[in-house]
Amino acid sequence: MNPKRMYDIDFNRPTIVGKELYYISQAIHNGYSAGDAAFTKKCHAYLEQALNVPRVLLTTSCTHALEMTALLLEIQPGDEVIVPSFTFVSTPNAFVLRGAKPVFVDVRPDTLNLDETQLERLITERTRAIVPVHYAGVGCEMDAIGAIAAKYNIPIVEDNAHGLFGKYKGRYLGTFGAFATQSFHETKNFICGEGGALIINDPKYIERAEIIREKGTNRSRFFRGQVDKYTWVDIGSSYLPSDILAAFLYAQLEAREEIQTKRQRVWTYYYEHLRPWAETYGVRLPVVPAYCEQSYHMFYLLLPSLEIRQALIDHLKAQGILSVFHYLPLHLSDIGRQFGGKEGDCPVTEDISDRLLRLPFYNDLNETDQARVVEVIQKFEPKPLQVISAPLSLNQRHY
Ligand SMILES: Cc1ncc(COP(=O)(O)O)c(C=O)c1O
Repeated sequence: MNPKRMYDIDFNRPTIVGKELYYISQAIHNGYSAGDAAFTKKCHAYLEQALNVPRVLLTTSCTHALEMTALLLEIQPGDEVIVPSFTFVSTPNAFVLRGAKPVFVDVRPDTLNLDETQLERLITERTRAIVPVHYAGVGCEMDAIGAIAAKYNIPIVEDNAHGLFGKYKGRYLGTFGAFATQSFHETKNFICGEGGALIINDPKYIERAEIIREKGTNRSRFFRGQVDKYTWVDIGSSYLPSDILAAFLYAQLEAREEIQTKRQRVWTYYYEHLRPWAETYGVRLPVVPAYCEQSYHMFYLLLPSLEIRQALIDHLKAQGILSVFHYLPLHLSDIGRQFGGKEGDCPVTEDISDRLLRLPFYNDLNETDQARVVEVIQKFEPKPLQVISAPLSLNQRHY
């Protein structure tokens, strides 16, 4: 029993799916539990093959993978990087650490992804990267974003923390940008406690990425027998995780089908059972365009107002169910304001961040518990103040 557990139904519960503990003990008994040992190599090979990408490097977090992209793109003070305001702090922070200015773009009202129609007007001579975030593992409009990036020759870094194995028009998320970053934090689909990966789609960055990840040394080349000693050749840091974490992650990756099937079931159950209630009360459910295969990372509701969201959080809490909101607009954060952010800059973000609520979602959320969440929600009657009708310009799929 977890002493910290205060809810009958938590928001998230990390779970063991297969051989995690066995592989962790193997990693220790192998005698090589530091980075880049056997399980790290297995994870690299698995992801490179599954996504058909030139190089994957496990990192200690998605945050660190983003920081690596800022180093690889040689971001300098005064450079600008375009990021959605509706994202986790690490998305801009990785670039701000190198002295860049984050330029915040609003999100689409339907998918809550970077609004590609606002992108071009934000590009200046100083723009050095565009960082779309595939929110909830639903693909951004990569055709349009890719075309704009190509027109101005600006690299794309996909923040794919939510979207491993999701697809946009049949192509895996994480394969569009020069780089993509993944998270294996305990709240994600595939976990190892804390962890991440850098996907390198442009091979010209591979060698330097290996060096930056290994404290600025050419140790990776040394281990491959390409140099007879390793030395300090560049700036860098320690971005590689222990093989113990890679062992945990490899067991999760091996259980890919099982994990994704479970999560699809949880998502679909919410969608189908909450739809009539949502329609009655003007609550918006997630939008997944027909040409996107989502990763089944989370399930959210967009409630009519901040007050109604708080009332629903309290209503669920009274029944022992934890629901949580998500990102606050970054352009209105203390740091965002220092970069000039102000009310009205990103109206969709400002609106939806007040109204979005995430429901309990994890692999082993069983149908009995989920039925209880749904039943408790159905008993909640938000006053039908207004009907929220997001412009569903995209061809929406059922789920
Ligand atoms: C969009 C996004 N990017 C990056 C991160 C950071 O991931 P990590 O905790 O692996 O550093 C998160 C965390 O949830 C996230 O939601």
